[in-house]
Amino acid sequence: MNMFSLFNLARPAIFALDPEKGHRLAIAALKRMPANSAFMPQAKPGRLAVEVAGLTFPNPVGVAAGFDKDAEVPDALLGLGFGFTEVGSITPLPQAGNPKPRLFRLVEDKAVINRMGFNNSGAEVALNRLKQREGRGGIVGINIGANKDSDDRSADYATMTRIMAPLASYLAINVSSPNTPGLRALQDEAALAALIDGIKAASRDAVGEGGPPVFLKVAPDLEPADIDAIARIAIDRKLGALIVSNTTISRPPLRSRHADETGGLSGAPVRDLAQQRLRDFRKATGGQVPLVGVGGIATAEHAWDRIRAGASLVQLYSAMVYHGPGLGAQIAGGLKRLMKRDGFGSIAEAVGTDSD
Ligand code: FNR
Repeated sequence: MNMFSLFNLARPAIFALDPEKGHRLAIAALKRMPANSAFMPQAKPGRLAVEVAGLTFPNPVGVAAGFDKDAEVPDALLGLGFGFTEVGSITPLPQAGNPKPRLFRLVEDKAVINRMGFNNSGAEVALNRLKQREGRGGIVGINIGANKDSDDRSADYATMTRIMAPLASYLAINVSSPNTPGLRALQDEAALAALIDGIKAASRDAVGEGGPPVFLKVAPDLEPADIDAIARIAIDRKLGALIVSNTTISRPPLRSRHADETGGLSGAPVRDLAQQRLRDFRKATGGQVPLVGVGGIATAEHAWDRIRAGASLVQLYSAMVYHGPGLGAQIAGGLKRLMKRDGFGSIAEAVGTDSD
């Protein structure tokens, strides 16, 4: 029995649980998987391999931040066939997050609303876990955030950079969560430029010039002027990639009874918005900065559309809630087929071939 049918069997039981309990159960199950063993080999670079920011991704399908906030199961996810995983968001100090309930399944919409608020065990716990897996290989990005009560949020990002730079395949700066009040103001041009300079300086302090590439994760709810400013900064500061995008505070038409919950919406209803933002960033950067497409991706066709629109890599989270963690391998397999169908020899060849 493969991972897919196993998940389909377990789904009604998982869905009978409160969503946060269901998530804890999924993490516990993944923790029991033999990591990086002969049963669970990591994906090997082959025809789906993509080079981004000096890293070779064995395939372009990754796990988005928020699924493995505390770096508990990176090797299990890589072993399931994801090309990379992004742990976090992690803040310097442990943080409880918002009061429960704060995670909602919108089953009829194949969507999720969350207002978790950066609940995580803090830098020290994650660092120790990541140290234990050092040398195992695989691309593990570390998504960093700021504590809600911090007096100096920019300093939190610099602190996180100093702590995590030695272990990160890449650092992802999350200034786009809607669930920490005021956080997204760091996407404003002057604040963002200063923030990135601080992060780069902290990385040089910690590991010298050859530090990990810095990716920036943006919100989908941006005006055209914001997009142009962020694109300029990304080019000037030589960011490794832009991750487009986080959850949306907008509410496209939804059917579920949870539609009016406060928080960030993800899953199927954000697919078009995230795809459009990706197109916007492709245009604004002129293809000079690699893009990671996230938001509503649930099939190989969705991933392929995102790649053709300009994404070098894709990530997903919400679709795993509905289809299980075997989805990464399934989408990667489908991408191989689509590449062949459309006559492309590599992912890189296909990136942006349908951008305008
Ligand atoms: C997230 N996401 C997220 N992003 C991030 O940068 N840091 C985080 O801590 C979290 N936490 C988080 C929790 C939950 C429950 C969800 C559903 C999402 C956002 C996530 O990485 C992704 O950008 C969006 O969910 C859009 O992709 P999907 O879910 O539509 O594939």
